[in-house]
Amino acid sequence: MNVAKLSKEGICSGDLILVNAEYGIASGTTPSLAPVHPSAPSVLMCSHAAAALGRLMQEIDGWESIVPVSGWRSREEQQRIWDDSLKENGISFTKKYVAVPGHSEHQTGLAIDLGLRREPLDFICPAFPDSGICRTFRKKAAGYGFILRYPAGKEDITGIAHEPWHFRYVGVPHAEIMSREGMSLEEYTDFLRQFPYGSRPFRICCGRRSFSVSYIEAAGEGISLFPHDFRSLSGNNADGFIITEWRDADA
Ligand code: DAL
Ligand code: ZN
Repeated sequence: MNVAKLSKEGICSGDLILVNAEYGIASGTTPSLAPVHPSAPSVLMCSHAAAALGRLMQEIDGWESIVPVSGWRSREEQQRIWDDSLKENGISFTKKYVAVPGHSEHQTGLAIDLGLRREPLDFICPAFPDSGICRTFRKKAAGYGFILRYPAGKEDITGIAHEPWHFRYVGVPHAEIMSREGMSLEEYTDFLRQFPYGSRPFRICCGRRSFSVSYIEAAGEGISLFPHDFRSLSGNNADGFIITEWRDADA
């Protein structure tokens, strides 16, 4: 059996970390970043998320009509955006559309704001209509590991207004599960607690792969994981880890 040390400190990293008003970014974590497109070298994401976005855009020829508006932000940049918005738009608008510094998904490198390539481009609320290339992007997003993070109707749960332009990388199969079940990341984090590691995982087939997803609470000491060929672990930034295991469906 593999032994993994799933300590409390580890819960704040991974593709499934929940970042919102309740759960902030752990200080001192700078992800490994890459530009999402050569036309906007300052718009960065975690390199694996940038690569997934690149594959999706390539499939739909997306960069012809869609621009990357905002990717990774330092805490200082998030603070500047918050302060500027407060001055220009007031507190009510700012609380709806700008996360409190230290609590923005943009600080993880896993979030991207996209806008339709047209002038003028609003930096906080770029246009991303439910039609044409933007609709195509949205339909394909889950297959590449992206979710619409702030959907309409979930404002009370996410704490943020509907943001059709803000996408979050959570990876496959999680984006597919959330999209099929209509769950926000807050709801998904809760949902997975019903599937404790070692007993009854949540199972799903995506493409040719069959996935098992389960949850394990963070513990101080090492825990034993059953042998498995393909496995990834992510903290949930609250209290534990999500374990994703897979195999080819016809293997
Ligand atoms: N616009 C999102 C909520 C952010 O500022 O992180
Ligand atoms: Zn955003």
